[in-house]
Amino acid sequence: MRKVIVRLAERSYPVIVGIGDWKHELSRLVSHVTKPHGKLFVLCDAQLYALYGSDIISTVEKANVSVSELVLPVGERAKTLTQLRHVYGYLLDSQISRNDFILACGGGVTSDLVGLAAATTLRGVRWGILSSTLLGMVDAAIGGKTGINHKQGKNLLGTIWQPSFVICDSSFLLTLPKRQLIAGLGEVVKYAGLATHDMISALNRYLKSEDMYDQKQLTQLIYLSAQYKAGIVSKDERESSLRMVLNLGHTFGHAIERSLGYGRLLHGEAVLLGLLAAVELSGRLKKARIRRLSEYRDVICRLIELIPHHSINIEETLTAMSHDKKRLGNNLRFVLLDSLGRPVIVDNVKKNDIRMALKAALAEY
Ligand code: GLY
Repeated sequence: MRKVIVRLAERSYPVIVGIGDWKHELSRLVSHVTKPHGKLFVLCDAQLYALYGSDIISTVEKANVSVSELVLPVGERAKTLTQLRHVYGYLLDSQISRNDFILACGGGVTSDLVGLAAATTLRGVRWGILSSTLLGMVDAAIGGKTGINHKQGKNLLGTIWQPSFVICDSSFLLTLPKRQLIAGLGEVVKYAGLATHDMISALNRYLKSEDMYDQKQLTQLIYLSAQYKAGIVSKDERESSLRMVLNLGHTFGHAIERSLGYGRLLHGEAVLLGLLAAVELSGRLKKARIRRLSEYRDVICRLIELIPHHSINIEETLTAMSHDKKRLGNNLRFVLLDSLGRPVIVDNVKKNDIRMALKAALAEY
């Protein structure tokens, strides 16, 4: 397996990427983090548990550690205060101590919820992630963002609490529904816009191969994404400047998710539409960018063809965006692209340019 390091001085940690070797890595890491007397708390999403629960438990037991387990509900509905309270109750009733270690097993929802519980129980317990979805592997599991939803919006309650390790094994993706795989590719495409040409070439090769579950190519995309994200988080952990580029496509994407009603499109699907709108806006604000971004635009459109269709109302999406604007202090900020690998942050965009960019993007949907 290959290793990418998120470099944060004494809180640095490895993101381990590979195919089919997760058991060996997991028992080795668990043995290390629970030495000498720590207990292990395994919190696993129900879908993953049904498929891999006994494998995960027998693997961590090989580390000669006392293991306790809790199965969590699947999907965005797990990211609530009620579920968080349930996790706190379980950890405290099991007498967790600060020497112990929490293992989150699942996708982004699980790592968001479990990470927040780890960050706040006893003022912070160490944790690690066995990631099982593409979106988790390339984005949610890396960088320590944790959180739950509130009726005012997604991820409004949370903190940044870095894990001690992340394991991304593409063999878990063989059982991932295709829709979720495509949603995960939304974030991979985002990195391809931000990173160097290696990434768009790898993505084009993967899309040409016609096998969306090709382990080798997926592993390479996960590795390149992890490498890019780890580099950004290492330089700007708390999103005071550089990390903002990871919001490429997200101002539009979040507004689309919100105006449609959460759950109609998966987050990564809305991000794909958001990326296309960001490309359209980039080109509207500077014509030379249209040619520079045409290959990137084609890749996004190719994946948009594969997502479910809903009718999206442009004015409602603009209203949802202004809700974001209120939260951000009247200053709506877009991450755009000057060319591949050259993100630019732009404020004060005219509403009509936003409207026209959205319209052009939705015409491809
Ligand atoms: N998902 C964006 C970030 O972690 O900053």
